[in-house]
Amino acid sequence: MEEALIITNRSIVIKTHINGFPKETDFELKVELLKGKLGFDDAFNYKEEADLKATLRKHFPHGIDVYFDSVGGEMLEAAVANMNLFGRVAACGAISEYTGSGRKAAPDMVEVIYRRIQIQGFLCPDFLSVHSDFISATCDHLRSEKMVSVEDISTGLESIPSSFAGLFHGSNIGKTIVQIAVE
Ligand SMILES: NC(=O)c1ccc[n+]([C@@H]2O[C@H](COP(=O)([O-])OP(=O)(O)OC[C@H]3O[C@@H](n4cnc5c(N)ncnc54)[C@H](OP(=O)(O)O)[C@@H]3O)[C@@H](O)[C@H]2O)c1
Repeated sequence: MEEALIITNRSIVIKTHINGFPKETDFELKVELLKGKLGFDDAFNYKEEADLKATLRKHFPHGIDVYFDSVGGEMLEAAVANMNLFGRVAACGAISEYTGSGRKAAPDMVEVIYRRIQIQGFLCPDFLSVHSDFISATCDHLRSEKMVSVEDISTGLESIPSSFAGLFHGSNIGKTIVQIAVE
């Protein structure tokens, strides 16, 4: 059975070192990257959407079955509002809520009840027992290019604060990595 999946984090699907991107973040470029190179059916720039519930309704006319959430806040509320019966949410992160500036998510619990939606926390350490399987399956997918890797690499210890702060402004494109030394 085919299910509609929404992910609010592009860095789990990854390839190539993109050192050539402009310093100023180009969000349209991110959208193009997701839809082109990374092979997603669709993507949008959430910063330009005034009504996330309506945006998700437009992109998922038949509803959402699975939501892997890294963001929390309004995006989580909008995803829950668009979920199908027995939809599932894996709550992995709530980056919009960490700095205190964003609103905490308050998904409509009546919708959760009537649509029997399951929301479950996801924490990496719970899966340490299958870590080696994860590594070998991921390496196979990278080799066969079923998965691609985008890494956003800065160099030097002194770049750690700006790289870390950039996570909250979307200035990274891909997995943020700080290279401390060259082996
Ligand atoms: N549960 C676990 O075991 C576990 C382990 C590691 C990490 N995490 C969590 O996973 C999440 C992602 O971590 P990561 O290292 O993969 O970071 P990442 O690659 O930088 O991804 C962060 C994503 O969140 C988006 N984002 C940032 N602020 C946002 C906002 N206010 N509203 C909507 N989207 C926003 C960014 O989009 P733009 O760049 O387009 O803004 C980006 O796609 C974090 O919440 C982190 O705490 C959980």
